[in-house]
Amino acid sequence: MHFTRAIVRPPARSFAGGLSSALEGPPDINQALVQHAGYVAALRDCGLQVTRLAPDAAYPDGTFVEDTAILTGRGAILTRPGAPSREGEVRSMAECLRNFYADLRGIAAPGTVDGGDICEADGHFLIGVSGRTNEDGAHQLAEHLGRLGYTSSIIDIRANPALLHLKSGIAYLGDGVWVADGGIQNDLRFQGCVNARDLILVPPSEAYAANCVRVNDAILVAAGYPQMSAALEKRGCRVVHLEMSEFRKMDGGLSCLSLRF
Ligand code: GLY
Repeated sequence: MHFTRAIVRPPARSFAGGLSSALEGPPDINQALVQHAGYVAALRDCGLQVTRLAPDAAYPDGTFVEDTAILTGRGAILTRPGAPSREGEVRSMAECLRNFYADLRGIAAPGTVDGGDICEADGHFLIGVSGRTNEDGAHQLAEHLGRLGYTSSIIDIRANPALLHLKSGIAYLGDGVWVADGGIQNDLRFQGCVNARDLILVPPSEAYAANCVRVNDAILVAAGYPQMSAALEKRGCRVVHLEMSEFRKMDGGLSCLSLRF
């Protein structure tokens, strides 16, 4: 898919108060802001017009905007994040998306969906049921997507505690190329759901880099993961390395930092 726009939200001063299972110490907000600015610059270099939402200290995880909506070429679906502390992040995203989408749907209680659990591949959506996205939410989302003319499959990743979200472990790079970390590629449900022409296996020591993003002609990947980077470059990809250390401390990956459409 060719993207022309992205929505981001820089981290708020309260960023360190967000949810995290990483045992890497608190993030440095000033460094996080520098890294976020680098991320935005990379999106702009890929030709995207970037809409920047205001940081909101009431929502320390609010920089991870991807979790608040699913954007498609035919309509958008606002999520209902699975962590109660993140539910309110959707309000400001809804206001923003009304400028771009006439068809704006939503997930209703008791359903929960985090956008990080949704991976689109050429009009087919993989929906991960995780600690954040529940079965009710997954089925609601599948229905919305179906009404928009898309197909979907539901994958239960709850047996894999290393994955916060489905896209913590997989990425679709287009042209039949998938990235998967070892834990999830062995999952037969994943193999049954995707038709991989080429599967890039991420070594366990570089599992964080599985969350990479294709943006037009570039693949954005976290800096500091040489094997992953080499695997992408070997395939002729234009690889853009981005410093992500402060977001990693808060369980956030590259895809989480923007909504692309
Ligand atoms: N800190 C990101 C999340 O837990 O949703």
